[in-house]
Amino acid sequence: MTRILAIETSCDETSAAIVDDGTLIKSNIVASQIASHKRFGGVVPEVASRHHINSINPVIDLALEEGDSSWDDIDAIAVTAGPGLVGALLIGITAAKTLAFAHQKPLIAVNHMAGHIYANNAIKPLEFPLMALIVSGGHTQLVHMTDHLQFEVIGDTRDDAVGEAYDKIGRVLGLPYPGGKKMDELAAVGQDVFDFPRAMIKEDNFDFSFSGLKSSVINRIHNAKQKQEELDPADVAASFQAAAVSVLVTKTVKALEEYPSKQLILAGGVAANKGLRSALKQAVTQLTKPVELLIPPFELCGDNAAMIGLAAYYYYQKGLVTSLDLNAYPGWDIDLPLG
Ligand code: KG4
Ligand code: ZN
Repeated sequence: MTRILAIETSCDETSAAIVDDGTLIKSNIVASQIASHKRFGGVVPEVASRHHINSINPVIDLALEEGDSSWDDIDAIAVTAGPGLVGALLIGITAAKTLAFAHQKPLIAVNHMAGHIYANNAIKPLEFPLMALIVSGGHTQLVHMTDHLQFEVIGDTRDDAVGEAYDKIGRVLGLPYPGGKKMDELAAVGQDVFDFPRAMIKEDNFDFSFSGLKSSVINRIHNAKQKQEELDPADVAASFQAAAVSVLVTKTVKALEEYPSKQLILAGGVAANKGLRSALKQAVTQLTKPVELLIPPFELCGDNAAMIGLAAYYYYQKGLVTSLDLNAYPGWDIDLPLG
């Protein structure tokens, strides 16, 4: 049995977890900073780092306690090394390096986006080849995998990530940060009446673009304000969501048709979106070949350390341990080696 202590501080959640054999989550402590960033309408990097400093030790202690573990039980320490905010990443990395040195444990540097994909390994083992749709606050990617930790990015966003578009529109609608979840709730009670653009939907590639859609929604809201016209925010949310989900699903289906895939993995914070979850469930039933859809439970969609511990097991198996001079890699692409 391999037991890993994992640490995640790439953005606005301070998290530590204990994970066995890349499948069993013994504990997963997440201290969210959302309340502190809300008044600024977004994550303030400096504020995030300060929160991580205050929370990191108690969060790790709690993860060990809830995971029934002493240091003797821990085989390795894993930490998110990127992508993310450099100051935030450095707090988790410094904690991990210090503990690895003090307790003489191997150190594993995990890619945050790989972690989002491996969150699904807690529900069912990943089976290759597979296709992953990553949708988060910073990324929108289609990633094909032929084996553990073998990633090929076949599609990427040309501009904004889908979660970013959700949050910016939410802010213009006056919703509290992060707007994604609230927009999803509003969308469920609204109607797609605005017919916003579905960018790049017909193009012969797997890339995305959400900035035109975002501008078009925001312009519609501003125009209505100028004319003192009443817009139902639920209809705005439903119309935006219909456009975003339709592009995501259409491109994913196209990718599944072109690339051999036993599974479709949904990953990242926007994987919590009810509209996207149900549209993908529907879409896989229409495919010409059977593809198993894996969707993480809500608590594993957003940032958490358990997903880092789940992925770390496979790094460890491949001997991918790192030295104690590990640095943060704020722009680490999933398909590139560390550094
Ligand atoms: O993966 P994540 O926790 O952080 C990053 O790695 O970026 O993703 C956060 C993003 C935010 O943009 C948030 O608004 C969005 O996920 N999000 C949602 C929902 N829940 C979280 N977006 C749409 N619908 C949701 N239900
Ligand atoms: Zn994330």
